[in-house]
Amino acid sequence: MKIFSEPEAGSLIAVEYEAESFNGGPCLTTITPKSTAPAKTKSKSKKKGFEPRIVAFCCNWCSYAGADLAGTSRMQMPPNVRIIRVNCTGRIDISFILKALYQGADGVLISGCHPGDCHYTSGNLKLRSRFVLLKSLLAEAGFEPERVHLQWASAAEGDVFARGITKMVERVKKLGPNPVTRGA
Ligand code: FES
Repeated sequence: MKIFSEPEAGSLIAVEYEAESFNGGPCLTTITPKSTAPAKTKSKSKKKGFEPRIVAFCCNWCSYAGADLAGTSRMQMPPNVRIIRVNCTGRIDISFILKALYQGADGVLISGCHPGDCHYTSGNLKLRSRFVLLKSLLAEAGFEPERVHLQWASAAEGDVFARGITKMVERVKKLGPNPVTRGA
């Protein structure tokens, strides 16, 4: 199973996630490269009109369906998000999140079933425990902990998902670009 690919030489970002087939086969997304301009000239211009790129890890059974519902119901939400479907949030390793940030995502949202509703009994609870550790690791790694957010959204809660995305984009806009890609 390939989870990440290394960035191409000269390209700042090329994140690929490929999950082993769950229902419809592999799920793959790529974040396109940011500008390769030098960091010094970038940081000022990036602030102006900065549109963050958010990676959202969604569990297949609740939040992914919730995201789908938000889309089919034409709910308003920013187009800054690339969704990566995982079978359960319990599958999300801390390294997935760190790698996404190191390869240029400005923020990472994790969205899964409500506690008690996980289709694998306690995957979301395990993720929640890991998430506490992740928050302290983020600060150590030089990322603002607010760049990563955890939310619960069921398959019927397209509105919750859409609101979560909107808030996430607002939060990351205030933080500015990812410190790695802005050269801080
Ligand atoms: S199946 Fe959704 S969080 Fe586990």
